[in-house]
Amino acid sequence: MSGERPAVRQAGRLAGRLVALGVTGSIAAYKAVELLRLLTAEGADVVVLLSPSATRFVGPLSFAALSRHPVETEVMDLLPDGRIGHIVIADSADAVVVAPATAHFLGAMANGMAGDVITAACLATSAPVVVAPAMDGDMWTHPATQANVARLRDAFGYSIVAPASGPLASGQSGVGRLAELPAIVDAIVAAVAASPVRQPDPAARPPLAAATPREADLTGRHVVVTAGGTREPIDPVRFIGNRSTGRMGVAIAEAALDRGAAVTIVAADVSVPLPEDRARVARVETTAELRDVLLDALFEGAAPAGEARFDALVMAAAVADFTPTHPSARKLTRGEDLTLELQPTPDLLAEVARLCRGLDAEGAAAHPPVRPAPVLVGFAAETGSLDRAAAKLRAKRVDLLVANDVTEAGSGFGTDTNRVMILDAAGGRDELPLLSKREVADRLLDRVAAALDERDTAAQTARMQEAQR
Ligand code: CTP
Repeated sequence: MSGERPAVRQAGRLAGRLVALGVTGSIAAYKAVELLRLLTAEGADVVVLLSPSATRFVGPLSFAALSRHPVETEVMDLLPDGRIGHIVIADSADAVVVAPATAHFLGAMANGMAGDVITAACLATSAPVVVAPAMDGDMWTHPATQANVARLRDAFGYSIVAPASGPLASGQSGVGRLAELPAIVDAIVAAVAASPVRQPDPAARPPLAAATPREADLTGRHVVVTAGGTREPIDPVRFIGNRSTGRMGVAIAEAALDRGAAVTIVAADVSVPLPEDRARVARVETTAELRDVLLDALFEGAAPAGEARFDALVMAAAVADFTPTHPSARKLTRGEDLTLELQPTPDLLAEVARLCRGLDAEGAAAHPPVRPAPVLVGFAAETGSLDRAAAKLRAKRVDLLVANDVTEAGSGFGTDTNRVMILDAAGGRDELPLLSKREVADRLLDRVAAALDERDTAAQTARMQEAQR
């Protein structure tokens, strides 16, 4: 988890872009790991291709873990779904960057020889290609290398990020060091600037790596998850709804079940199947129903003070913010102008948080807090910027807030992926790359499980200190 940073994440100059990072067998190959991190920080979804000799400098595992995509190393290998990996990359990437690029790569590419996944992807793509060479000084100045670079630049239109001068692997000094990484990032940003995102549909991009299985670290915990969108009736046939499908909430419920938790799902309108055989499921339609059922699931009708009946609440539902003040009992007919009067709905998450923390509507202490303190998680679907997320976390008094920009490609409603930032009450912000919703769910539950363990350890320590007094 990262600590407090001065500003909330900006969209990033490569937000929504797919960048294919080709790494060839130079001593500078290790720098590609940091380049991958910089590209991810700019918002790019990155997929990595390694030449056979690159794998002798850096293993595919670190690249796979950081990029969340399987790494392409073999030109003949197929993806699990039968697609050809380097062709999928060539067809969906917004840019291909080869860094470091060896003299051998430059020569093979200049002659159209597609003997490995990187040259094959470059040959097959219509995306811009950025090449950052790195090699010994004499190799760089050799006429063959210079001719190959000139051909890539002038005949193929590739952007060349020239190597820098400095100490080289040979112990000598000269021109041949891989260019500074920010200069390579800038070249990629410039290369894609004029074109729209090429393939926003994650299904047409390279697959995501399978989620890492977690241990049963939520055994004995009761996790309550709300999912889907509420519907507020206008008349018996019409309603005000929203685009939520319930995918994120259901992914969280399934992940919690797989990790041993007892799970209650309070489902508003969802368009995905619910794990009804494994979880307790309550269905609701309106915000008012959601409030009743949720308070009942959390506090079982009893006064909230006292012992907690749940360990965590994840409020993934898209709750309507307004409801018609006077829904009609009869179907409204066409013919006349219609003005709908709307009133705001109560903020359910803020209300649950107040009840758990023993506060009244004004935030003053009213009754003992619920013990042990449950972990409360909110979601914030924003459009354009996540600047309001930290204020929302404080206003709702939650422990964790999962914020995402629903206008970003691959994020938001109806997709299988999400790119989120998890904020915590201590001011920490954890920016996650584009991940499957299941992996987002597991990353969130990692935090929930850790917070619950911390809570119990602190309570245990306090009890022991009390007993020793
Ligand atoms: N939420 C809630 N009750 C509401 C509205 C939202 O419990 N009436 C919950 C959502 O389930 C989510 C979190 O509050 O976990 C944030 O929802 P969001 O719509 O982003 O925030 P709002 O408080 O509605 O703020 P705004 O509409 O100003 O963005």
